[in-house]
Amino acid sequence: MRITVVGVGYVGLVTGLTLAEQGEYVTLLDVDPVRIARLRTGESPIYEPGLEELLTAQVALGRVTFSTRYDEAVPGRDLVFLCVGTPSNAMGATDLDQLSRALEALVPHLDPECTVVIKSTVPVGTNRWAKDLLVTRRRQAGLPWENISFVSNPEFLREGSAVWDSRNPDRIVIGATEDHAFRTMERLYEGAQAPILPVLPEEAELIKYASNAFLAQKISFINLMADLCEAHGADVRRVAEGMGLDPRIGPRFLAAGLGFGGSCFPKDVRSLVHQLKAKGLSSIILDETLRINRARVSLAVRKLTGALGGLANRRIALLGLAFKPNTDDIRESQGLKIAEALIAASAQVTAYDPEAMANAAERLPELQYAANPEEACVGADAVVVATDWPVFAELPWERILADMRSKVILDCRNMLDGAAIAELGGRYMGMGVPAAGRSDQDG
Ligand code: UDX
Repeated sequence: MRITVVGVGYVGLVTGLTLAEQGEYVTLLDVDPVRIARLRTGESPIYEPGLEELLTAQVALGRVTFSTRYDEAVPGRDLVFLCVGTPSNAMGATDLDQLSRALEALVPHLDPECTVVIKSTVPVGTNRWAKDLLVTRRRQAGLPWENISFVSNPEFLREGSAVWDSRNPDRIVIGATEDHAFRTMERLYEGAQAPILPVLPEEAELIKYASNAFLAQKISFINLMADLCEAHGADVRRVAEGMGLDPRIGPRFLAAGLGFGGSCFPKDVRSLVHQLKAKGLSSIILDETLRINRARVSLAVRKLTGALGGLANRRIALLGLAFKPNTDDIRESQGLKIAEALIAASAQVTAYDPEAMANAAERLPELQYAANPEEACVGADAVVVATDWPVFAELPWERILADMRSKVILDCRNMLDGAAIAELGGRYMGMGVPAAGRSDQDG
């Protein structure tokens, strides 16, 4: 099939390249000429394992082309995927500006039999609204509209494993009302080893929000339990393990710590709050999910303040700026929020992240950045681990502790061996796990 993907961010780029790998001819269209120019040189604009190799291979096979122009990239296509950004607006509702602009731009160029697939995460009802808008404009312009169909096909890929997730989806949700659209999508995904779920567009839109909000809520729930564990000297990791053995609960997304960030969970939960309120329904369960998540950052800062007896002029090494490992994405990063709070409290912060420092430096130029984790920790009063990059567990902690001024380790992701750090003379604190080692205040 001949396909154009509009919007070459995480979802668009990965989706387009995976479709090309499947044998489709794909044009990647973005209005950002810099992004397209970088892609043309074979450079991925985002860090994602396996993505650059996939890009190079598909370009070499001639299955991928790039464009910044709708008049060039849309005519003659069987399918147009819309993967534009749908950020939060100032009120927390979803901003559909980019989607509206893309739809308006498609109007004169779509083939009369084209299927438009919305992959962007959009509030319930958006697919029907988008179709109405497009049909109205085509009629006004005297263009055929009767056989243009719309599909809601939400994307569930995770950053850091986006290519793998896109190749191995756990479900394919197709929200449509026309048989023709279902058949086209079934043909497109016929090789996939995943259940295909034909649903209404509204149901598809809700599946995406409900899934993300449910997972976010699972994280906030275990973080609430982490606080209760701490009050009783219990270890939340063992509580999570015991809960996760119940197959109805499952072990995943029960890692307590600093909570969730990223480009999806925070904005999608906020959007769902708005969608519930718009229908007069209670959003308390999600309000609390967000409140607990915000409180993780202040809890980490309070713990550090308590351990150091204040933050002004203290030297803090911050390990981890990406919102999670294996990405350079700092959007809604909890680690970055800690950095901001520490700077506001006049601490001297030196940060290190394996991939996210360039992005962080644009947002927080006042932070000091180290070339490696050990360098960040030399002379520090405390080390804060904010992202669970596996490399942080492998650091030479004996040497690091020896080079620190006071030996406080705040492990916000519960990923280090607290007892080992205490044995090396460090003062270990986690989030909902027992502290270990002596504090300076112990005398
Ligand atoms: C998420 C969804 O998983 C994905 O299906 C959707 O398409 C987009 O949003 P992503 O944002 O890439 O993906 O990251 P994810 O791996 O889900 O983690 C989100 C956040 O939750 C991260 O900040 C992570 O550190 C945090 N998290 C995750 C926890 O704090 N505890 C956990 O147990 C799991």
